[in-house]
Amino acid sequence: MFSFAPLRAYRIARALYQQGRLEDAEEVYQRILTVMPDDALAHHDIGVVQFERGQVYQGVERVKLALTRDSTRVAFFATMAGMLEDPAYQAYLRSPFYGPFNAQQMRQRIFRGMIELADPRSIFETGTFRGTTTEFIARATTAHVFTCEIDVNYFAFATQRLRELANVTVVHLDSRSFLKRYVPLFARGDAACLFYLDAHWDKEDLPLIEELGIVFAQVPRAVVMIDDFEVWDDPGYSFDDYGPGRRLGLPYLAPLARFAPRYFFPANSSGETGVRRGSVVIATDPALAARIARIPELRPAPMPPAL
Ligand SMILES: C[S@@+](CC[C@H](N)C(=O)[O-])C[C@H]1O[C@@H](n2cnc3c(N)ncnc32)[C@H](O)[C@@H]1O
Repeated sequence: MFSFAPLRAYRIARALYQQGRLEDAEEVYQRILTVMPDDALAHHDIGVVQFERGQVYQGVERVKLALTRDSTRVAFFATMAGMLEDPAYQAYLRSPFYGPFNAQQMRQRIFRGMIELADPRSIFETGTFRGTTTEFIARATTAHVFTCEIDVNYFAFATQRLRELANVTVVHLDSRSFLKRYVPLFARGDAACLFYLDAHWDKEDLPLIEELGIVFAQVPRAVVMIDDFEVWDDPGYSFDDYGPGRRLGLPYLAPLARFAPRYFFPANSSGETGVRRGSVVIATDPALAARIARIPELRPAPMPPAL
């Protein structure tokens, strides 16, 4: 049973919602939750308000929470169905990190430059997620794009999304198994191949250094871009740090020294858009590295002082 105060608060919140005062309505619902933190209806109503305020992901997550608190309310399911079908949520699903390459336009130009200058036979991506960057790459090239995803639901989503692009193959495999199996099949001979390594996500299992070992041992003319990488002389770029010895930066790549890699960093972050995640581009073949060096938005990566 509700005590008097929450009932009155509900009336006020509903009235505010009907007047279109969504921010004020959300504040009143939040106050209801401070008194009754498990109240499914308050979570549901906050979800509706957030969704209407354009926070579509938060809105859906909130209604999910309401359903975990009370899964007998038909109206909650109806709200959820409406949200999932809404074009705003469908658009969110297609661009979860705001756009391809985290909506970073400079990074998009760098990858286009890599395609133009390396003229790859095949392109490999690890970590498909919802296929946003895969779609961008596939539309920018006639080369075949192979991409792998470990999560079965993201794999299913991306497969459906990319089904009309004839130059894309989505594979449901761990990135290391994927590279071991597909690279020898589709990166044969001395044709150049591009790699976009973006399967770092799981705090317990960081596949990156193994992925790089597999690539460089098999493809002498590989050009690799790694996302979420520390650009140590430019703090405007953010990066992944999974704890001691697992910070994505140049020292982490020390085991690659035997391949004599050339490293390139993106130009200054002040010229970048979107999420501004750092990156590095690596080539081991000297002639290919010289071509990649012509991309205006790239510069040779300086070694950090400790190395
Ligand atoms: C940062 S997201 C990738 C984003 C995507 N490349 C894009 O630009 O839109 C990382 C993805 O890698 C997947 N992943 C994590 N570990 C993996 C592994 N070992 N093998 C394959 N995929 C993995 C995750 O499930 C997640 O979907």
